[in-house]
Amino acid sequence: MRRVIGVFDSGVGGLSVLHHIREALPDADLIYVADSGHVPYGDKSPAYIESRAMTLTRFLLDQGAEAIVIACNTATAAAAHTLRDQFSDIPIVAMEPAVKPAVAATKSGVVGVLATIGTLESARFAALLERYAGNVKIVTQGCPGLVEAVERGDLRGLETRRLVERYTAPLLKAGADTLILGCTHYPFVAPLIREVAGEQVVLVDTGAAVARELKRRVDTELPPRDKNGTAGVESFYTSGEVEPATRIMSLLWQRDATVQALPPRFC
Ligand code: DGL
Repeated sequence: MRRVIGVFDSGVGGLSVLHHIREALPDADLIYVADSGHVPYGDKSPAYIESRAMTLTRFLLDQGAEAIVIACNTATAAAAHTLRDQFSDIPIVAMEPAVKPAVAATKSGVVGVLATIGTLESARFAALLERYAGNVKIVTQGCPGLVEAVERGDLRGLETRRLVERYTAPLLKAGADTLILGCTHYPFVAPLIREVAGEQVVLVDTGAAVARELKRRVDTELPPRDKNGTAGVESFYTSGEVEPATRIMSLLWQRDATVQALPPRFC
């Protein structure tokens, strides 16, 4: 039997993390849920997001998941604490903006954070800055509309470029030489951000670190599995419409993704 890992996000953004998880755990089965029926999370209340996170976690556990990855900064801010409380017997790996590595990387002493309003307004983010910002100036920018652009698969179009220009301009003007991609959707527009902000700007995201942390916890906290040498498979679910989800998820996963509808009681 192969290891089973459950991963969820508000939509397709968490696929940027799933790529790293697949590399770190080549023989695990990965179940991914895009909560596309409720995207974006960025403008929802913490209570709403917490309730969705509980429901999706229950679904993933029903499917046999032995560990959960919250592949969403906004859901981490709103729900990681409660999920860990409620499901204390399984590893729950969460993600938050990469303030610590960005503070280590900046030479100008100014770091910009691109994230959802929900993440930026959370107590968890305030605590992160308190802990790691030190003498570095942190400037933040909420990015309404950018998650929706990625959900449409519009990674390079004019509308998306305008959003990226609008959101990076104040950070660059403030002197930021390092930008944190504080939402799992944003790595999919990283090439565009680079084009707009300039090649010299350092972009930091947390996907690889989260995959490493997942592997460490799986290896140390879960019973060992016989390695039978077969590659793990992925299953994809959406709480939204299956056809557009299949198109966008195949684009972002870079191979054909068969997407199934999440059962109605979890939607
Ligand atoms: N991928 C989510 C995150 O990392 C996006 C949240 C949203 O849906 O607004 O924050």
